[in-house]
Amino acid sequence: MTRLAGKTALITGAARGIGLAFAEAYAREGAMVALADIDIDQAQQAARQINETIGDQAIAIAMDVTDQDSIDTGFAHAIKSFGQIDILINNAAIFNAAPITEISRNDYVQVFDINVAGTLFTLQAAVKHMIGQGIKGRIINMASQAGRRGEPLVAVYCASKAAVISLTQSAALNLIEHGINVNAIAPGVVDGEHWDGVDAFFAKYEGKAPGQKKKEVGDAVPYGRMGTAEDLTGMAVFLASDDASYVVGQTYNVDGGNWLS
Ligand SMILES: NC(=O)c1ccc[n+]([C@@H]2O[C@H](COP(=O)([O-])OP(=O)(O)OC[C@H]3O[C@@H](n4cnc5c(N)ncnc54)[C@H](O)[C@@H]3O)[C@@H](O)[C@H]2O)c1
Repeated sequence: MTRLAGKTALITGAARGIGLAFAEAYAREGAMVALADIDIDQAQQAARQINETIGDQAIAIAMDVTDQDSIDTGFAHAIKSFGQIDILINNAAIFNAAPITEISRNDYVQVFDINVAGTLFTLQAAVKHMIGQGIKGRIINMASQAGRRGEPLVAVYCASKAAVISLTQSAALNLIEHGINVNAIAPGVVDGEHWDGVDAFFAKYEGKAPGQKKKEVGDAVPYGRMGTAEDLTGMAVFLASDDASYVVGQTYNVDGGNWLS
């Protein structure tokens, strides 16, 4: 269980949910992990928990992926602590839902700033470091089944995740000459605090009782239930491991069979 021994990873949005599960899985596989999040208190608590339960392998980094200074300072902090960064998981994102007639420009800008520009410029900071140091690094972007097709109430988030899939392909083709592999994971519906927020949007716009949408989407998954953050960790470890060195520009669905492509 040490497929990532000697490796260092920076994971954005790692204070909770899927990003935290990735940090725990990477630490179990022997990596040093930097939990980068806009919520530094929760990131510190999460890093402490990893250090107490898995091993002294985690640090918390304050990072807002919409702020270039914050990205640069966060990377400098992680590189100073670990010497170098081998793996980046671009995981930080927000969700939004509204009918087309009610989408505000502010909501659009906020979602694209975090989910798309945040992914691109965090990736850019990582690969400038990797290319400069001759590191054959790995980048994993978090897409979504939402990026595979539109949804009536989720235009902006779906478009942002389609953009993440496209950025993954272009960055992969541009960076493979440096030995840097860029790939993505497209989860389906994953239980956690994020989905509690999604459920609240559907309660508002579809008139559903709290928890009803969550139950419906879970029941509709071919596997028979919603995913858990832990269901995604195997793919995240694989894509960072030596086994994935010939995997370039792909987006893997890890969704219990929700989307077939
Ligand atoms: N949960 C799902 O059902 C699901 C499905 C498909 C894809 N995804 C994707 O997986 C990833 C993780 O999802 P999750 O469910 O763990 O979400 P989450 O909301 O539980 O966690 C997101 C984390 O990102 C952080 N964050 C938000 N804005 C930030 C910013 N500007 N800078 C830095 N950090 C910021 C938050 O503080 C939080 O810790 C996201 O990219 C999400 O779009 C989730």
